[in-house]
Amino acid sequence: MESAQAQKRIADLRTEVARHDELYYRRTAPAISDQDYDRLKRELADLEASHPDEARAAGPDSPTQAVGDDRAEGFQVRRHRLPMQSLDNTYSEAELREFHERLARLLGREDLGYVVEPKIDGLAVSVTYEKGRLVRAVTRGNGIEGDDVTANARTIRSLPASLKGGAAAELPDLVEVRGEVYLTLAEFQRINREREEAGLELYANPRNLAAGTLKLLDSREVARRRLEIVLYGLGACEPATAAGATQGGYLERVRAWGLPTVEKFWVARGIDAVWAAVGELDRLRHAFAYATDGAVVKLDSLALQKEAGSTSKAPRWAMAYKFKAERAETLLRAISIQVGRTGVLTPVAELEPVVLAGTTVSRATLHNRDEIARKDIRVGDTVQVEKAGEVIPAVVGVDLRRRGPQCVPYVFPALCPSCGTAVVQLEGEVALRCPNADCPEQVRRRVQHFGSKACVDIDGLGEAMTAALIEKGWIRSLADIYRLRREDLLTLGKKVEKSTDNLLAAIEASKRAELWRFIHGLGIQHVGAAAAKDLAAAFGSLEALAEARMERFVGEKKSSLIEGIGGTIAQAIIAHFNDPRNRTLVAELRHLGVSPVAPAPRVISADGPLAAKVFVLTGTLPGLTREEAVARIEAAGGKVVGSVSKKTSYVLAGADPGSKLEKARSLKVPVIDEAEFLRLLGG
Ligand code: IVH
Repeated sequence: MESAQAQKRIADLRTEVARHDELYYRRTAPAISDQDYDRLKRELADLEASHPDEARAAGPDSPTQAVGDDRAEGFQVRRHRLPMQSLDNTYSEAELREFHERLARLLGREDLGYVVEPKIDGLAVSVTYEKGRLVRAVTRGNGIEGDDVTANARTIRSLPASLKGGAAAELPDLVEVRGEVYLTLAEFQRINREREEAGLELYANPRNLAAGTLKLLDSREVARRRLEIVLYGLGACEPATAAGATQGGYLERVRAWGLPTVEKFWVARGIDAVWAAVGELDRLRHAFAYATDGAVVKLDSLALQKEAGSTSKAPRWAMAYKFKAERAETLLRAISIQVGRTGVLTPVAELEPVVLAGTTVSRATLHNRDEIARKDIRVGDTVQVEKAGEVIPAVVGVDLRRRGPQCVPYVFPALCPSCGTAVVQLEGEVALRCPNADCPEQVRRRVQHFGSKACVDIDGLGEAMTAALIEKGWIRSLADIYRLRREDLLTLGKKVEKSTDNLLAAIEASKRAELWRFIHGLGIQHVGAAAAKDLAAAFGSLEALAEARMERFVGEKKSSLIEGIGGTIAQAIIAHFNDPRNRTLVAELRHLGVSPVAPAPRVISADGPLAAKVFVLTGTLPGLTREEAVARIEAAGGKVVGSVSKKTSYVLAGADPGSKLEKARSLKVPVIDEAEFLRLLGG
């Protein structure tokens, strides 16, 4: 490559890699597959190595010389005692063998022992235990310092607040234990289902969702999603002997301390044994609780690790061998456009069915208009489909060599495919939307959501039935469900009496569904089932919710006044009811006989002995159940919340208290026992 050309390519690649680093680490929304990213980064590193002068001329900073940076707004930054380095990686067996040759030369011996571990596709964190107590959890950040996510990490049920001691495992005075925070596939799917119901964008894979969750500023929301953790790595340790002498020994200690660690690891002597272990891991990894994208090969001896040392970025004693993502090529037959409940237009690839990671794939997401344009995906192309994080198939690229002359660039529709209204792009959004609230496809999805099991549960209002009712013009809004007439429904076919009566009975029964089901069914942005329950408890009726102003949700210094409802949700609710049609709908529903069952209002006495006092409960009380304690506090005018903050008045602690006790102590919140609590209540 010519000098000027090389310099330009280096500069371009640096910009491109930096853009993807930003998307992956900070925005947790990667635009390309890991493999494509690794390929770009590898090309850049190779060019920088073969053209050092040009690399220098292209500027001092290169993403190849740094680890990605995950730091986000709103967290305190903490320095790691020992830097959290990144790992060199490869997709090739030959390069893995070269890694061993290099180490053998460096250390002057062939018979090196290694540990082979799964490479977990999560979010790197460093957890510090002092004298066996969890004191801090920090993300990798830029490797030197990261975000303090202790409060969120404490919501991880499998992460103990204190380490187990004992003969098998001497407890260090201080240890930084490193690992990955992740979400199981089941939890990922549960959360995405809820987001779909709430009209929110879906996360592409568990890793992004785990990363997004750990970086939430509201620990209560974090606690609702069940994060998990797996620990495998060693940072600072005092005394150093407490970590053991080998990586394998350290993993055993991590387990003996009561920490979740890798499900399996192999101790292997020589590179052939390493390669065999890598193969075995590849066969076993699909049964693990976490997603794995490779094997990490580490020198077993900690002394030899030290001798081998590190470069500025990665240790010389470890190497990741990455498994190729499961990918298949197939024909892109068509691109269809789905119109969502909120009007978002999502392009979907209609594929010639192909088997990928054990399942047949015939549709894949194309994300949005910009993604199609960026990858220049055309109908008739042979495309590569990949299971990102082994979950949702996505089209990752095009085989240009197989592009025929008939393939013309894809033009994203300017009109809604359902109603023909011109599509719009809202400021700050990538998505295009159909702005017509009466769009039949949007109405169909809204009605279906409203009638679904997760909302007011109208049996018989399935996809085909809803489509037919809209087609006939009988349903234009949610209220029309309650205006359906038996004589009209009977014209839908022969022998439909029984199904018609069943449907009408289900509609009638739904009128007395619980309030939260209606709130959820209205399809307010960001309001999923959990938020709907909190809102139902706070407002008691649809009318009260529709009338609520911002002051009802947010207090001084932006503090949230309703348990579980933050500023984003509050804004969405207000925006929803700013639309006169949505206010009218509430009145119409009432008029049509809808009368939701409201939860029993909490009796809160404004002048009781605990008026305005905020309690947190932890541990088991000797004489009261948790429910009894909550009822007494509320009856006396106090409030119970889930986590300790500066605003907490008292922590009421019983036997076996959790981490809340420690948090109370660190924030100097008074801790009381049951006897003192009863005294506060006045006997
Ligand atoms: S050891 C100094 N072991 O992969 C060596 N890392 O792509 C540090 N990772 O930054 C890493 N599983 O966050 C190690 N078994 C494992 C791992 C692992 C996942 C992560 C880690 C690292 C990244 C590099």
